[in-house]
Amino acid sequence: MLAGKKILLAVCGSIAAYKAAFFVRLLVKEGAEVKVIMTSSAKDFITPLTLSTLSKNPVYSEFIKNSQGEWVNHVELGLWADLLIVAPLSANTLGKMANGLSDNLLTAVYLSARCPVMVSPAMDLDMYQHPTTKENLRKLTGFGNIVIEAEDGELASGLHGVGRMAEPEHLLEAVQDHFKKKETLKGKRILITSGPTHEAFDPVRFIGNHSTGKMGRSIALACAKRGAIVDFISGPVQHLPDHPAIKIQHITSAEELFKAAKESFTEADIAIFTAAVVDYRPKEKAQSKIKKQKENLELTLVPNPDIAMELGKVKKNGQVTVGFALETDNEAENAQAKLKKKNLDMIVLNSLNHEGAGFSHDTNKVTIFKKDNNQISFELKTKDQVAEDLLDVLENLDR
Ligand code: C5P
Repeated sequence: MLAGKKILLAVCGSIAAYKAAFFVRLLVKEGAEVKVIMTSSAKDFITPLTLSTLSKNPVYSEFIKNSQGEWVNHVELGLWADLLIVAPLSANTLGKMANGLSDNLLTAVYLSARCPVMVSPAMDLDMYQHPTTKENLRKLTGFGNIVIEAEDGELASGLHGVGRMAEPEHLLEAVQDHFKKKETLKGKRILITSGPTHEAFDPVRFIGNHSTGKMGRSIALACAKRGAIVDFISGPVQHLPDHPAIKIQHITSAEELFKAAKESFTEADIAIFTAAVVDYRPKEKAQSKIKKQKENLELTLVPNPDIAMELGKVKKNGQVTVGFALETDNEAENAQAKLKKKNLDMIVLNSLNHEGAGFSHDTNKVTIFKKDNNQISFELKTKDQVAEDLLDVLENLDR
């Protein structure tokens, strides 16, 4: 299955480093060619001899290879690999990768590698939960790296929770999946609307919502990884996708979003409407800041264009459109009604009734309704995995 694949495994200092030995064995058994890099602290946990014996290759650790002062070319190592996997990934190396530090062979290879990068964090409970760790992992995802989430269970500290490095068998599955995935969307142009809109009623105030654009970002990265060219139109959000195939246009209001989306839609093969468009905008926008007053302030709101619906009306044969629905009651019925009303090919219903789903979370639980009346419900998953599921369904639509 992995015959001929060149895999560069980078091992950090963590008690989970012992799992690297099992992982190398599995990779070699599957026919992969494996080279290993170790940080100096990884050698406190497992010997280079173990990993070089199992990988049948020398292990790299320093920029200087031997007593003759032979140099290890980090660029060459990065170019050699079809896939770089950092497993286990320590909080320390994660921090360096997220911030472009390059003070050892592993981080220099990471910065110079052109191949996809997968990371498998292993940390103690509180380290894994720390906002810095979460932020750094988000940054890596934003760079297009694949993060294999840590697993739940007993930790070396005796604590119990999420932080264990994924089991070697699970890592192997992730690697196999990665190579199975071809550039299935190569040549496709995909329009994605994402994030909230802000509807101003004076120069400093607006009506908005809590959308963070995380779902849109995950979908954009998944599309780009499958070879598509992405037109990403985003409202004001903090975290944006970062990939050469993703062109980002920033908008603030629904009207700006509509204008940009209309233009991009003419060229699009697929449009995915993840934006949480504010349905009404203030009729008037004051030129200067509205002064605080004793009386009530009354705003008249007028409806915004429904972008998905308007574009649904001008949809050409062969164009595919996907919407999202967030419902509080009669979820399935309302989602299906929107699918029809907006002339969508499929609609993704976010379950608001499930903890961990919807706005601002890194996870989501969705049901996808298709035009042919079929529906598929998924478990609570990371938004990256939801994006992959969505694209798998989309690629297999009967049209
Ligand atoms: O009608 P509702 O707002 O629930 O529909 C949600 C779907 O429609 C989402 O895909 C959203 O991006 C899209 N939408 C839109 N323009 C609007 C409102 C919603 O494109 N004004």
